[in-house]
Amino acid sequence: MDFWHELPSPFFVLAPMANVTDAAFRQMIAKYGKPDVMYTEFVSADGLCLADDEGKAKLMRDLLFTEEQKPIVAQFFTNKPEMMERAAALAQKLGFDGVDINMGCPDRSIEKQNAGAKLMLNPKLAQELVAAAKRGAPKLPISVKTRLGYNKDDLEKWLPALLEARPAAIIVHARTRKEMSKVPARWERIKRAVEIRDEMVSETLIVGNGDVVDLEDANIKAEESGADGVMLGRAVFGKPWLFKNASAKLLSENSSEAYGKSSASDRFAHAPQPDFSPALTTRLRIAAEHAALFEKLLGDVKNFSIMKKHFKAYAEGFPGAKELRMKLMATNSAAEVKDIIETFILER
Ligand SMILES: Cc1cc2nc3c(=O)[nH]c(=O)nc-3n(C[C@H](O)[C@H](O)[C@H](O)COP(=O)(O)O)c2cc1C
Repeated sequence: MDFWHELPSPFFVLAPMANVTDAAFRQMIAKYGKPDVMYTEFVSADGLCLADDEGKAKLMRDLLFTEEQKPIVAQFFTNKPEMMERAAALAQKLGFDGVDINMGCPDRSIEKQNAGAKLMLNPKLAQELVAAAKRGAPKLPISVKTRLGYNKDDLEKWLPALLEARPAAIIVHARTRKEMSKVPARWERIKRAVEIRDEMVSETLIVGNGDVVDLEDANIKAEESGADGVMLGRAVFGKPWLFKNASAKLLSENSSEAYGKSSASDRFAHAPQPDFSPALTTRLRIAAEHAALFEKLLGDVKNFSIMKKHFKAYAEGFPGAKELRMKLMATNSAAEVKDIIETFILER
């Protein structure tokens, strides 16, 4: 049995987000609120196979993970089965728990390579890519992350084609490529995806994605749609604790008693629970810790300005947030971030 099929029901997955869910943010999430499954950011399979040593070393940083992040899935994009096979073999060698094929990304640079969302226009190639990943990583479950269709909702044809390739899981972002993120996600189509899967008597798990704001919302959407799991992306911005109310113990400033004591057995009890937000001081120190970890793990290959979108999210919704945010946006190092945050805490 693959790890996907051993997860609780419903299960919750951290979405891949390029330049957001990097090794540093994933480590913060693993510490403060671990989801049932984590994903790397998308990584170019072609790059891993064909880039020069420096390029490869840079891409390998996107595949950095620790034991605490497991189960973790490596997400690749390519339109070449051979590259997918080699990238999947690498993922297996590196100790990943699964391989995911990106078939939904509208990013121009990826579509130019006829990968990502473009694969929805070529179901045969999509099937070949799944088969290639299986050949490359025979011990790992293969999943696909996709959308409802390219220019129009094509779920009725596209999903059966994908299911024929027998991936362990399909993550459906409930919009078309054309819609980008401009319209609300159509969760009723996730329900239909589950029906199609059932009609085909397929073992593939269906994971819904799009606009989910917290675990309570995720539980409701899973129940209404019948999805086996829910993937959350943007909701985790500035909230590495999003996935686990049980983190209350760690974040002791906000007494854990309000939410009951947690134990290993109820870590993944998925009954709807109130949104958990740590007290402001803790939250800001988490932001500083995140910046320090980013610098330590990725400082030599990624620009510190990548932290800006995190600062924007951490410094929001409290008196003085705007001024603090502006100061954080101008920083170039974790030490500066720490200074600014400690001064803010002292002066409050
Ligand atoms: C900044 C950003 C980067 C993303 N990068 C990826 C990616 O690398 N691979 C992928 O499959 N989807 C990527 N996505 C899409 C998300 O995984 C997810 O499908 C989308 O944000 C909808 O879910 P949400 O409403 O919970 O955020 C990205 C989205 C954002 C906002």
